[in-house]
Amino acid sequence: MNGHLSSRPSRTAHLSVRLLLSTAVAGLALAGCRGNKSAEPPVHPNLNMDFQQNYKPQEENAWFSDKRAVRALPAGAVAQDRDRSDVELNSGRGADGRLLNGLPASVKLDDALLARGEERFGIYCSPCHEKSGYGHGIIVQRGLKVPPPSFHEARLQAMPLGYFFDVITHGKGTMKPYASQVPVADRWAIAAWLRVLQVSQRAQIADIPDASREQLLRGTP
Ligand code: HEC
Repeated sequence: MNGHLSSRPSRTAHLSVRLLLSTAVAGLALAGCRGNKSAEPPVHPNLNMDFQQNYKPQEENAWFSDKRAVRALPAGAVAQDRDRSDVELNSGRGADGRLLNGLPASVKLDDALLARGEERFGIYCSPCHEKSGYGHGIIVQRGLKVPPPSFHEARLQAMPLGYFFDVITHGKGTMKPYASQVPVADRWAIAAWLRVLQVSQRAQIADIPDASREQLLRGTP
């Protein structure tokens, strides 16, 4: 009985030491939380591919005689997307400097081009210009200050195809250029699709080839 009583204080002392220890551990864990400032490099338990043996641009590489990690390009090398030798394709203008009134000779008009144009137009242009080209896209509905013009107004109907390529490349008024996001080939595909939209809104029954016209009038696909 006595022994039992005398063991009590020592058990309490044991418990309080445990409590103190665990508080200290919890405190340490909290001190190392994300967002806390420290002069030490962060602990990085899972390395993934964060550290790799590769060379940075100005680093030395003893394997080469000139010790340059970055190798010089062969003379005359041109990056794949930097070949500007096809002037019509890259500028939208003919040799006379005037905007092309059609596709450049190197671009073939086919279903694939139009399908690509429709898809890219949907991504890059329709948020403002609307899929139909009337200009009431979602951004305009949400309050774009200067709304875009309709592609179906007479002035834009009369524009040569190269003009649309030019507007995508360089922007126009408050519309920013899309050259950095839309590669040259896609700009032509979009320009061609823009023309399709224009034609679609003023098509006459006589514009439809005979065979398709019959089908259309019969109402069967
Ligand atoms: C963020 C909205 C926005 C997007 C996206 C956008 N445009 Fe525009 N676009 C405008 C606005 C606004 C104008 C009118 C600019 C002005 O007159 O100051 C305009 C004008 C135009 C014009 C008429 C230029 C003229 O002579 O009046 C064409 C053509 C055009 N855009 C084509 C495109 C094409 C093609 C794309 C996709 C690659 C595109 N735009 C993407 C907002 C946009």
